[in-house]
Amino acid sequence: MARRKKIYEGKAKTLYEGPEPGTIVQYFKDDATAFNAEKHDVIEGKGVLNNILSEFFMQGLGQIGVPTHFLKRLNMREQLVRSCEIIPLEVIVRNYAAGSICKRLGLEEGTQLPRPIVEYCYKDDALGDPLVTEEHIAAFGWASQQDMDDILSLALRVNDFMSGVMLAVGIKLVDFKIEIGRIYDGDFQRLVVADEISPDSCRLWDLKTGQKLDKDVFRRDLGSLTDAYTEVARRLGVMPNNPPAPGKPTLVN
Ligand code: TMP
Ligand code: ASP
Repeated sequence: MARRKKIYEGKAKTLYEGPEPGTIVQYFKDDATAFNAEKHDVIEGKGVLNNILSEFFMQGLGQIGVPTHFLKRLNMREQLVRSCEIIPLEVIVRNYAAGSICKRLGLEEGTQLPRPIVEYCYKDDALGDPLVTEEHIAAFGWASQQDMDDILSLALRVNDFMSGVMLAVGIKLVDFKIEIGRIYDGDFQRLVVADEISPDSCRLWDLKTGQKLDKDVFRRDLGSLTDAYTEVARRLGVMPNNPPAPGKPTLVN
């Protein structure tokens, strides 16, 4: 088989040219990084879990009419997505205080926010993805006013969907990050939810115990990251099928 052309290698995913023009194969790696890649580890099985969870969330969003780049899952580690131009912003929605907003504003972790707060960070690893305002976004031309209206509306719809889905399985959606892509159809452009939605890019706490079921487990050395992500997948009913252990007899009817 011909070797696929690698387009981009990020910290947690590699992108390859897809089979049709305008498509991309997104390969989920097992690499976990935090603090702008200062901390790095390879966590066996993480890529498989994120591939399946991101498929689940993107498909659900599609079903309620939120446009995404997702086309289909190809195998345990790869999915086919529409190629798009990523807007250089990390769009963060927060329902409860955690992470950087606690440090910035002196809030206690877990405080419920008066309403969902949307923040934008400029996607630039060398700068550590700094927080920016709509003034910066407009002045530097990263997105137009119309784009910003659409991005805000997409972000809040994703928040409502994700909060509901997680609440139904006893998990609180504390915050999350999405990325937005532009797809050009002739003279028109439309914005879609791109990249991934997974426990790497969300904060998820068990509703009853407050146990963390997201990448903070890795960031803060709180235990097994695979166990946490497996628990999320199990509750959502999307656990990847485990192949039978080698050497184990299989019943044939
Ligand atoms: P923060 O509290 O560190 O700003 O993170 C807010 C949310 O964004 C949290 O759910 C984790 C996610 N996130 C990413 O997906 N990628 C990143 O590079 C960072 C810093 C945060
Ligand atoms: N994804 C970022 C990094 O690699 C930060 C994070 O998720 O904490 O370093």
